[in-house]
Amino acid sequence: MKIRRFHALQESYIMKKNKKQLSYEGLAWTELIISSPSDYADYVDGLAAIIKKHSPTETQTLLHLGCGAGVYDYTLKNHFQVAGVDLSKSMLKIAGKLNPDVAYTRGDMRKIRLKKTFDAVIIPDAIGYMTSVKDLRKAIRTACRHLKNGGVLLIVTHLNEEFKENNFVYTGEKGNVRVTIFENNYITGKNEYEATIVYLIRKKGKFKVYTDVHKIGLFSSSLWNNLLTERGFSVQRLPAADIYDRFMLAEGEYPQVMLVCKKSKHESQR
Ligand SMILES: C[S@@+](CC[C@H](N)C(=O)[O-])C[C@H]1O[C@@H](n2cnc3c(N)ncnc32)[C@H](O)[C@@H]1O
Repeated sequence: MKIRRFHALQESYIMKKNKKQLSYEGLAWTELIISSPSDYADYVDGLAAIIKKHSPTETQTLLHLGCGAGVYDYTLKNHFQVAGVDLSKSMLKIAGKLNPDVAYTRGDMRKIRLKKTFDAVIIPDAIGYMTSVKDLRKAIRTACRHLKNGGVLLIVTHLNEEFKENNFVYTGEKGNVRVTIFENNYITGKNEYEATIVYLIRKKGKFKVYTDVHKIGLFSSSLWNNLLTERGFSVQRLPAADIYDRFMLAEGEYPQVMLVCKKSKHESQR
């Protein structure tokens, strides 16, 4: 028992050394055990409605940066012709199976250039992986480069001044696999928190424990405003639905906001 446990923890260490997140590589398969597209369908329909409402023309094409396992894309494609970008090969493999009709590309939201523009771009629940102002600026630049003039960029994020520490638990099972995931969010610095994730996985009755640590950037609303306006966006802030609150342990809060950013109709590509 001890040896197997050590082996699993060691695996987590090796993944980190290679700068890959265990959650999004070796354990990406757990995504569709703990959630399914239907769990998020109403929320994603709401995101689509906001994009359509704020777009000056009909929104046909949409780029999802940090698309993960394609859980949101499953619903987004009812509204738009969707393209997705993610850093993780394993997440994209799952996304491709779930959404064979979506164009997925592996890439980094700080650097990727698809040589194509879209009516809308979204970054829900992934921009936190930008842990420095430099990286955040690069990701916003990528979004802007891929957006048609007059188009809408929708970002779902935390704001530094509102973020609270908290704990979550997610569970799911499929066949003879059971997964329990604990997540502890702990503020480690002025502009960063750490999500420590512990996976309890039982496959055919055999038990393993894995750990992963994610560093997440926290930026103030004024910094967000500055970075978005310097790229020519006009920004409207809306409250984001509390979609994760049902997984929260004990008392807690996980406030997120939606930044609806409109690109100028006459903005040149910068
Ligand atoms: C929590 S998942 C969110 C997935 C999806 N947006 C959703 O809401 O279901 C975060 C995703 O961001 C991706 N990611 C992290 N850093 C990235 C980067 N620099 N460029 C592209 N994707 C990135 C991870 O691989 C992961 O799949």
